Amino acid sequence: MQRCAEWLVGKFERMGLEARAEPTAGCPVVVAKSPRDPAKKTVLIYGHYDVQPAEPLNLWTSPPFDPVIRSGRIFGRGASDNKGQILAHILGVEEALAEGELPVNVVFLIEGEEEIGSKHLGTFLETHREELACDAIAISDTGMAAEGYPTLSYALRGIATMEVRVKGPAMDLHSGIYGGAVANPVTAAARLVASLHDANGRVAIEGFYDAVQPMAPWEREAAKESPVSDEAIAAQAGVKVLAGEAGYSAVERIGARPTAEINGFGGGYQGEGSKTVLPAEAFFKVSFRLVPDQHPDAVLAMARRHFEKHCPAGVTLEMTDGHGGEAFFLDPMQPAGKAAQRALEEVFGKKPALTREGGSIPILTEFQRTLGQPALLLALASPDCRAHAPDENFPVENFLLGIRLNKALLRELANG
Ligand code: BES
Ligand code: ZN
Repeated sequence: MQRCAEWLVGKFERMGLEARAEPTAGCPVVVAKSPRDPAKKTVLIYGHYDVQPAEPLNLWTSPPFDPVIRSGRIFGRGASDNKGQILAHILGVEEALAEGELPVNVVFLIEGEEEIGSKHLGTFLETHREELACDAIAISDTGMAAEGYPTLSYALRGIATMEVRVKGPAMDLHSGIYGGAVANPVTAAARLVASLHDANGRVAIEGFYDAVQPMAPWEREAAKESPVSDEAIAAQAGVKVLAGEAGYSAVERIGARPTAEINGFGGGYQGEGSKTVLPAEAFFKVSFRLVPDQHPDAVLAMARRHFEKHCPAGVTLEMTDGHGGEAFFLDPMQPAGKAAQRALEEVFGKKPALTREGGSIPILTEFQRTLGQPALLLALASPDCRAHAPDENFPVENFLLGIRLNKALLRELANG
């Protein structure tokens, strides 16, 4: 992490920006600034240099940290999320500087903890509020609606995570000597996991939907016209049949509806062959994707009550809250949103799709609260970029378009 932060600082310094990697209680935050001209607007460009774990390594066609280009795509962990996308912005600024002058002041803010909830960036924003003051925030850390389709994402889901340990006997037991008389923690964990959804695919936690706003009629209409079909989503995911909350299309389920998802589950013997054991404990990791007005802490409190209520006899629960962040929503028709749409259309030659996306960037609402400026999400990752998965990739073409997009965006933002 340290080396990556230092690489960025070196790159920015070679471009003539004033740059530093500032330590936090976690990973360093990289800040780089062009000389501030008070007559110009200021654009803050945000991204992250941390990535998700690359495992399982055996499923990569080439090693995750040795980037290679195959069939017009760059393969490597972070190729899209987010190293490739943020690098396009860096190179855009580098080109603009080489060609003459920047139309705006630029501040880069590149953090190293986005993938674990941006725990220390909130405080950093508070303490550097003046240095980071800006007129708009530009981010490329989302996915395009379809290959080659310019996309402005105006909403992202929030997130709340927790881990549940299910504890049974004091030690692993012989399943013949004790099985049938002692509760099995893995079975109990499976029951708890299964209790999260009802038969209609809705989250069965009491109160979970209380704060959820229904989708506005215009949004449901817009979702119908989305360039992304259910079939395309199924094909990308490699499944024959989609599943989820009844009554909604896949685009709506992913972008506009909250969910509960199991990210990990374990317990008992994991080795080859069989071992007749009644395990002492089991665990599962759950994350909730949230929509506007749902609060991470409130949802985690409801989830705790739910698991306590459904906890089978004979086991006890140890629940640990993880990170959280609220959902993000921006009116794409405000001036900065329109400037972003113009830049996208100019570079891609098509009117941009306006999308709600399912992923989360937890710091976004704090950006808007602390810096008081709109965050523009200009997607560069392709729908089959395999973010967080083996063989993550980034089309070279998107990378080159991203460099041009950065220049067009800064120009459009400067003009209004
Ligand atoms: N780039 C993603 C966010 C994203 C992905 C937005 C796809 C829209 C579409 C980001 O790096 C990410 O993965 N965020 C995490 C946040 C979490 C770990 C706190 C996520 O969404 O799981
Ligand atoms: Zn990510």
